[in-house]
Amino acid sequence: MIHFLELKKSNTPYRREVIDAITEVIDSGWYILGEKVKIFEKEIANYCGVEHAIGVGNGLDALTLIIRGYKEMGIFHENDEILVPANTYIASILSITENRLRPILVEPDIYTYNIDVNLIKDKITPRTKAILVVHLYGRVGYTHEIRAMAEEHGLKIIEDAAQSAGAKYNGVVTGGLGDASGMSLYPSKNLGAIGDAGVVTTDDGKLADVVRALRNYGSFEKYHNIYQGVNSRLDEIQAVVLSVKLKYLDKENNRRRDIARRYLGEINNKKLVLPHDTQDRESHVWHLFTVRTGKRKEFGDYLSDMGIETMIHYPVPPHKQPAYSSWNNESYPITEEIHRTIISLPLYPAILDNEVARIIDACNSYR
Ligand SMILES: Cc1ncc(COP(=O)(O)O)c(C=O)c1O
Repeated sequence: MIHFLELKKSNTPYRREVIDAITEVIDSGWYILGEKVKIFEKEIANYCGVEHAIGVGNGLDALTLIIRGYKEMGIFHENDEILVPANTYIASILSITENRLRPILVEPDIYTYNIDVNLIKDKITPRTKAILVVHLYGRVGYTHEIRAMAEEHGLKIIEDAAQSAGAKYNGVVTGGLGDASGMSLYPSKNLGAIGDAGVVTTDDGKLADVVRALRNYGSFEKYHNIYQGVNSRLDEIQAVVLSVKLKYLDKENNRRRDIARRYLGEINNKKLVLPHDTQDRESHVWHLFTVRTGKRKEFGDYLSDMGIETMIHYPVPPHKQPAYSSWNNESYPITEEIHRTIISLPLYPAILDNEVARIIDACNSYR
C-alpha cells in the first residue's frame, strides 16, 4: 500500500539528531519557555525575514492570538469583520469567531484555490478590519493587489501560513508577507513537530509583546497579569525538534516540488483537473497535491484498489458545517464545487520515486 503520508518514514532521516536534541532538553531540567524556544523563535523569525516570532501551542492558537492581540491593542473590536476564503480549513474561521469578530466569506479563484482578489472589494464595509489570507495547499494566496487593497482601506493582512512553510512570493517567505502570520507546526505540515506546535511571526513589536503575554496567562512578569490570557506555549522539546527540521525545510520543499513537477508533467488523464502551475514570482511548496474529478468516490475507490491511499481536503466547507448552522443555507458555488470534486494524492518528501511512478501510472490508466 502506498500510504497518503508516513510520518515515521518522514522523520527517520532526522531521528538521531532529534533524539540527541531532546535528550539535551531532558537533561537540562528546563522544559517550558526556556532558551530552546527562544532559539527557535529567532531561527524562524530569520527564516521568514521578520523581527519577531512567538512560539505557541498550535496553529489555531497562533491565528486566534493575533486577532486577540489586535483587540487588546484597540485595533479590532467585537463584531468587526475579517474577510476570509470560504474554502479554507475551518481553523482559519474559528480564530475569528473565537474572538467574536465576524468572518466574511469570500469565494476562491477556481484557478489557484486561494481567495479571489477580484471579489474582495465588494465585501469591504466600514467594519472590515482585515483580510485573512490563507496559503491553501502550500500555494501563496498573497498578491500585491491584495496589499494595495489593504492599504487603500486601512486593513491588516493576516496570513494563515499553516500549509505554506517556506513558500515565497517575490522572494519573501510566507510569514513575512502580511502584518502578522500564524503558522501550524503540526506533525504533517511541511515544517512539522512531533506533537502540536505553532508560531506567530510579525514585524510589529507591540503586537509581538501582546501575543507573548497572551500565550502565558496574559503576563510579562510572573504573577502580574495584564491581560486575561491563555496557556498556549511552545514547549522546549518541540522547539528543538523544530530547530533540527527547519535546517532541512528548503531541501524537503525542493523534493516536494520535484514530485509535483512529475505529477504535473506526467499525469495526462483528461478526467482529472490538475492544479495549475504557479507563476514565476511564486514558489509553491506543495503541502498537498490535489486533483479534481466529477466522480471522486469512484476515482478514490479505484486508487484504493490499486493500493494507493488518498484523502479529501476538505469534504465539507465551513459554511455547511453544523458548527456554523446560521450559514448552512448560504451558497458559495465555487467553494462547493471544489469540496465536491477535490481529492489529494500522496506527496511527501520521503515517498519513493517508484511509488510516484505507480501513482502516475494509476492516474493515467483510470478510465
Ligand atoms: C489552513 C489551516 N489553518 C489553520 C490550521 C490549524 O493548525 P493546528 O492544527 O496546528 O491548530 C490548519 C491545520 O490543519 C490549517 O490547515
